[in-house]
Amino acid sequence: MIRNTETSWGSIAKLMHWGIAALIIAQIVLGLVAVGWRLSPTKLNLFIWHKSLGILLLALIAARLLWRFANPTPRLPADSPGWERRAAHASHALLYICMFGLPVSGWIINSAANVPLRVFWLFPLPAITAPNKALAETMKLVHLGLIITLCVALAIHVAAALRHHFIKRTDILTRMLPGRATST
Ligand code: HEM
Ligand code: HEM
Repeated sequence: MIRNTETSWGSIAKLMHWGIAALIIAQIVLGLVAVGWRLSPTKLNLFIWHKSLGILLLALIAARLLWRFANPTPRLPADSPGWERRAAHASHALLYICMFGLPVSGWIINSAANVPLRVFWLFPLPAITAPNKALAETMKLVHLGLIITLCVALAIHVAAALRHHFIKRTDILTRMLPGRATST
């Protein structure tokens, strides 16, 4: 099944969920390695990879959100309490805010620091702000704050998925896994 139904995630949503999850984790590692590397041509290349992958992620995340709006979202189990529904909704919204905020704040850092942006050595992207040192410094803090928020939200997200699987014994986790088409 390509599309979502009221009870299950389709293959496109699953592919985007796990593909983007893997790329975000690689991107966090790449960002930390690039920041920690000594000043050298390798550091510059690590940053070109980081910025390019970040822009690619921005496009993938936008496509994912559009796909989500164009499809039904599978329902939570009928006996889920109201707080659990609200918590699921709020944590997914927070994950999306971080997923968009990170590449956008990164692009603003780059623009405000007046550094040219080339995506995978292929094509340039324009600056989205005028050069402004103070803005670049503020956006570095925003970028870091969003990383910390994303990591906390992700820890809650994974804990909730594992709680559903091992404690509540619902199929919330298995219905997001590849190859499982149906759900109750
Ligand atoms: C989902 C996308 C992204 C994630 C998860 C991410 C993650 C990270 C991480 C973990 C760091 C190291 C921690 C820090 O010092 O802030 C970092 C730093 C940085 N990122 Fe990103 N990033 C993303 C997108 C981007 C994009 C699209 C750009 C630019 C076009 C960018 C530019 C930067 C810059 C310039 C730094 C160094 C900041 C500093 O010197 O403090 N990032 N990022
Ligand atoms: C960076 C990593 C991750 C991000 C950003 C992320 C984000 C999201 C978001 C936004 C949703 C809501 C549905 C959607 O719009 O696609 C979702 C659903 C889900 N995620 Fe993740 N996720 C990540 C990693 C993981 C991991 C590691 C697990 C497993 C332990 C997991 C398990 C699930 C499950 C089971 C659902 C389905 C919930 C339901 O059916 O109602 N996610 N994820």
